[in-house]
Amino acid sequence: MNVLVIGGGNMGMTYAEAIAKSNFLTSGSLMIFDKSQEKQAELRANGLFDVHECLDTCLPEADVVLIAVKPVHAAALMDEMKPMVSSEQLFVSIMAGVTIDTIQQGVGTNKVVRAMPNLPALVGLGMTSFTASAHVSRLELAAIEQLLDTTGRSIGLTSESEIDASTGISGSGPAYIFYFMQAMMDAAWKMGFSKADARLLVGQTFAGAVELFNSSTLSPEDWMAKVASKGGTTRAALDSMDDNNVNALIQEAAYAAFHRAEELGKQTEGKEATHG
Ligand SMILES: NC(=O)c1ccc[n+]([C@@H]2O[C@H](COP(=O)([O-])OP(=O)(O)OC[C@H]3O[C@@H](n4cnc5c(N)ncnc54)[C@H](OP(=O)(O)O)[C@@H]3O)[C@@H](O)[C@H]2O)c1
Repeated sequence: MNVLVIGGGNMGMTYAEAIAKSNFLTSGSLMIFDKSQEKQAELRANGLFDVHECLDTCLPEADVVLIAVKPVHAAALMDEMKPMVSSEQLFVSIMAGVTIDTIQQGVGTNKVVRAMPNLPALVGLGMTSFTASAHVSRLELAAIEQLLDTTGRSIGLTSESEIDASTGISGSGPAYIFYFMQAMMDAAWKMGFSKADARLLVGQTFAGAVELFNSSTLSPEDWMAKVASKGGTTRAALDSMDDNNVNALIQEAAYAAFHRAEELGKQTEGKEATHG
């Protein structure tokens, strides 16, 4: 199988490196194309994949094409690809909010997988949700799942609406965690800790809690019950959060991201992928 990654930015580079370092391509080649010459030089220095200067030399050779450009560049890229695309090629898009239909129309072919990764893909701990057009076979989808898993874990969903919903949970989710971390660091500074100590206290607390959560089947509520005893310090903090409706507010925030993902998808369909 020949894989072509288009766009060598944060995400494209992450996928290309992860694929190159995995066992995914036991045979075939990994190609990458970015329109910027500066980026091409950077990619070449990496030495892990075939770097191409134009689409003509790589697109016709590709069995799988991973599109990793910003949504705002999607329409121009798809226009350029369209005359060179064959119906056997499978397109995987990680572009936020760009629908399967937009890609099918844009490149003039049917086999499309839409995936929504998240930022921890950069360190191999990504959570990617994906869904496919009906034209992608089970075998092809299993291969794409393996490809996506090179950057972490993935979940196959049955509709694009679920992709929008997963955007509100795992796609945008890392920022909610950072928000919470920032609030805890702000509290630590106010209590008199240095920035370095606050960073250590908060970072290691998050890492430890996540490790505990992933090491068992206990729910977050079970873990809260384990750590909070009646009349104790943790109970005081959890009671304060409950009194302030923090749980409901976080859910509201996740829904805001979900609805925004839906809106962006609609705008993109209307404008043929022109938002950023
Ligand atoms: N970052 C995330 O956490 C995240 C999460 C989920 C999904 N995504 C999606 O991942 C995609 C890529 O994001 P990113 O942060 O990696 O973007 P990025 O850093 O801007 O990388 C995109 C690269 O593609 C290049 N490019 C633009 N048009 C091109 C074309 N026609 N042909 C070839 N290369 C082209 C850009 O060059 P120029 O800089 O010269 O334009 C840039 O080097 C986006 O669609 C985003 O929605 C990102």
